[in-house]
This record gives sequence, structure tokens and C-alpha cells, in this order.
Amino acid sequence: MSKIAVIGTGYVGLTTGACFAHVGHEVVCADVDETKVRRLQRGEIPILEAGLDNLVREGIDGGRLSFVVGAANAAADCEFAYLCVPTPQGADGSADLSYIEAAAREIGPVLPTEAVVVNKSTVPVGSTRVVERALGRSDVAVVSNPEFLREGSAIHDFLNPDRIVIGAEDQGAAVRVSALYLGITAPVIVTDPASAETIKYAANAFLATKISFINAVAAVCEAVGADIKDVALGMGYDTRIGHEFLKPGPGWGGSCFPKDTRAMVRIAEDAGYDFNLLKGVVTVNDEQLNRVAEKILDVAGGQIEGLRVGAWGLTFKARTDDLRESPSIEILKRLVARGAVVRAYDPSGPDGIEGIEVVDDPYAAVEGASVLAVLTEWDEFRWLDIDKVADLMTARKVVDARNLLDRAAYVRRGFEYRGIGRA
Ligand SMILES: NC(=O)c1ccc[n+]([C@@H]2O[C@H](COP(=O)([O-])OP(=O)(O)OC[C@H]3O[C@@H](n4cnc5c(N)ncnc54)[C@H](O)[C@@H]3O)[C@@H](O)[C@H]2O)c1
Repeated sequence: MSKIAVIGTGYVGLTTGACFAHVGHEVVCADVDETKVRRLQRGEIPILEAGLDNLVREGIDGGRLSFVVGAANAAADCEFAYLCVPTPQGADGSADLSYIEAAAREIGPVLPTEAVVVNKSTVPVGSTRVVERALGRSDVAVVSNPEFLREGSAIHDFLNPDRIVIGAEDQGAAVRVSALYLGITAPVIVTDPASAETIKYAANAFLATKISFINAVAAVCEAVGADIKDVALGMGYDTRIGHEFLKPGPGWGGSCFPKDTRAMVRIAEDAGYDFNLLKGVVTVNDEQLNRVAEKILDVAGGQIEGLRVGAWGLTFKARTDDLRESPSIEILKRLVARGAVVRAYDPSGPDGIEGIEVVDDPYAAVEGASVLAVLTEWDEFRWLDIDKVADLMTARKVVDARNLLDRAAYVRRGFEYRGIGRA
């Protein structure tokens, strides 16, 4: 068993720390956010992530998981230091490495000899060198070990990964990192740092491409009178294509795809390649936000000033509380900017969002609304009382941007129903 420091306790860091403690390692998680650390020390989980609370409590009770303020306090005694800090989009589209550099500078002076620093944050090619420079240590190896977890099933994904990617120049360090994943069965790809870093961006760019592709096909379906559900099904049974990520919707968002696609375009540009395909993927996504906003406007009869919209779903996808770059919010903001009045409900119970009234009941969200907009695919929206919804609204119109609802049941109650990619 090893001593691991995890720097950053967000979606990736907290999952990494809790899962490594679960498989038996001794883990100290550090964050700069003192309030968050105090809550974690009490076993309170600041994010919504299935199973994370039980795993954190198990780690604390078993004495294998603890939380401290400040990266140096975690790293002083560790064999491995995992960097799980943000890499947001910089002003020019590239990844901003300032958090990574700051964390590396903090731990550099205190790391024991022969410790391994592992980059789990999503970082562009060349970042291993950036970390090495910021650490200022020649006796410490730096390894890339990108994370592929999905929010909403992060624990499952960490413990049952499709693959583990390790990029290192020092093969001994790569072997030591792969040994941390004891009991976790998955193909391990050991490669150089540049390839490991590229795998992560290429994977996210490809997934975003699949979504933009199916959204574009959905637009064609609407134009030619085809049904995207059947089209996607017919495509997905081809094992070369697969069903995953072939669901049309309001567009992709979240904390990763928007910044990672733009960073990949930028990485390619800096290296002299014009990644037109990926630029198109980004454009299609932005157009999709407008297409859904226009659909809502259209079903309302084109009169947006003072239009009351009841919205279900604010998170960027279901089973998370993450609102970062959520297409649901972006669409609603575009409507508000044009004069609509929006009242929204989301099962994750978010705090206020500028320009949008957030309520804690799905029926309250539609009261007095003339259009219902379903924007995030929370299952519970399927089971709501349609008659009650109809009675509360001033007009029976629904835009189902996830093709989630029972279309026939809404139509039976007199609703004008608009999905994505189908009549
Ligand atoms: N969220 C995902 O689904 C996901 C999946 C795969 C990879 N990633 C990548 O992982 C990285 C982290 O993402 P996240 O969503 O967990 O971020 P996050 O914003 O949820 O968490 C980052 C945490 O790091 C802390 N932090 C910042 N600087 C610090 C420092 N110097 N010392 C200690 N703590 C510090 C912040 O306070 C915050 O709690 C990013 O590069 C992201 O692209 C994210």
C-alpha cells in the first residue's frame, strides 16, 4: 500500500482520493478551499456524486483518508502526489496551466526523494515539462495519468475503467503508478507523456464530435420528416458506430468538453495543423443551443417579450449537480436576453442563477407558463402528473430537448409537442 497525496478535491480529486483509499492506500487530500476541507473532514460531501459519501466515510472511519488545507501539507510525506486541480480555458482557447504550476511550486520543496508526481488534470502536450520546471526537482519523476470518469458515475468509472493510460519517460515510475490500481482490472496503456496527454483530448473531442454529429443528423431528420430515434437506433446497432453518445439534445456542455475541444483546436493550431473538423463540431454545438432556443420561441408563436417559460433541468446532464457550461442554462439565458421570463426546477437543488427564478418543485416551475422546456434528462421528469402540468400552464406547449417525455401521452392531453429530430 502506498502513501498518496491528492491535490484538489473537486469531482476528480475527491473521487480519486476516495477510490484509492477504498482499494487500501493511505490518502491525504488537500485543497486551498478551507471551508470545503473542514466539511470534508466532517464527512460532508460538497458535490452530488453517487456513492461518494459512503466511500469518503469508509475512508475516514478506516483511517486511510484525511483532508488538509494546502498542498504542501499533504505532499510532505507522500510517495505519489496526484495533481487534480482545474485547467480552465485561457483567453486564447488554450488550457490555463496556472493552477497546475501553482500546485507544483507548492509541493516541490517538500516532496520526499523519489516521489512520483502524477498529472490527472487534463493538460496539453508538454505539460509534463511544465510541471517538472515548476517542481524544480531532478529527483522526482512526473507522470501523466489522465482521468476519463463521467460525472454521475464517477466512482463506478474509476473502479471499472475502460482503460488506464500512463504516460512517462521513466518506465520505473510508470510501473509504480500502474501498481497503484491494484484490484482494478483494465487494459493499461503505458506510453510517452505526449501520447497520454493527446489520448485524453482526442477522446473528449471524439465524444463531442459524436454528439454534434447526431444533433446535425437530427436537424436533417426534422427537415426530411425522419425520426432521429429510429435513425440513431439503426446507426447504433452497427458495432463500428455503437449506441453511446448518439442521443440528440440541446448540445454538449459541462466542465470538460467545451474547454477541451477548444484546447485541442489550439494545440493543433500551435503545431501547424488546422483542425477544421473539430472547429465544425464546436460551431454545430453553438448552433444547437440557438436551434433549441428558436424552437421554444417558435412553439410560443414567435412572441418572446414577456413569454413565460417553465424549465425542467439546469445541470449539464442528469445525476450531477454540476452547472458549469450547462447547455440548459445557456439556452435559458439566450431566451431571457430576448425578453422571456423563466422559472426553472432542477432535482439537484441549485442556488440562484442570474436572470432565472429557480424553484424547488417541478410543478411550481410550470405554473403560469405558456411553454414547458425540458432541458436535462432527469428520469423523474417522465413520471410527473401530466394533467396537473396541463392545468397549471396557460397554454399546452412543450419543447422536449432530450426526447425524454412520453410524446403520445402529452399529445393526448392536447399539448403541442416538439422534440429534437422528430415531428
Ligand atoms: N469533472 C470531470 O468530469 C473531469 C473528468 C476528467 C478530467 N477532468 C479534469 O480534471 C481536472 C480537475 O477537474 P474537476 O472537475 O475535478 O475540477 P474542480 O474545479 O471540481 O476541482 C478542482 C479543485 O482544486 C482545488 N485547487 C485549486 N488549486 C489548488 C491548489 N494549489 N492546491 C490544492 N487545491 C487546489 C480547487 O479549490 C477545487 O476544489 C481538470 O483538468 C479537468 O479537466 C475533469
